[in-house]
Amino acid sequence: MLSVKMAAALNDQVIAELYSSYFYLSMNSYFESVSLDGFAYWMRMQAQEEMLHGMKIYDYIHERGGKVNLTAIEQPPAKWDSALEVFKDVLAHEQKVTALINDLINLAIDERDHAANAFLQWFVTEQVEEEANVGAVVDKLKMIASDTAGLFAIDQEMAKRLPPTVE
Ligand code: FEO
Repeated sequence: MLSVKMAAALNDQVIAELYSSYFYLSMNSYFESVSLDGFAYWMRMQAQEEMLHGMKIYDYIHERGGKVNLTAIEQPPAKWDSALEVFKDVLAHEQKVTALINDLINLAIDERDHAANAFLQWFVTEQVEEEANVGAVVDKLKMIASDTAGLFAIDQEMAKRLPPTVE
């Protein structure tokens, strides 16, 4: 059984992951609106992946005898001026999520909840991967600056992303 504090913290993380999904869906719409189809597809996959992250924690709360309380999801931003601006926001967002995961693990350690700690380690690895992938996109977008041919080349690369899994 989860402690009341841990159950509440995991519940907050479900909402944070669902917000992430909403955040990336808004970015999908931005890229759709400027016809950058590869970036749009990448964001759609990212939104789906965040939903899976949320559901992984949602299921875990039930597995440990808890109940999820679905609260309101904040409105995400909707306007950006460039792909670089979008991806800088993605990186900042993922860094915040990493901090949230670290806080959850600190709580698990404080409570000697080894099961929650073990469960959360999957997210630690995932965050390293997410920050690395997004950081690489930011670097490439900085390199091409305002070169349209470069932007289209990256757009095509973004379209190669595989659908998400959380195994
Ligand atoms: Fe679920 Fe992008 O962290």
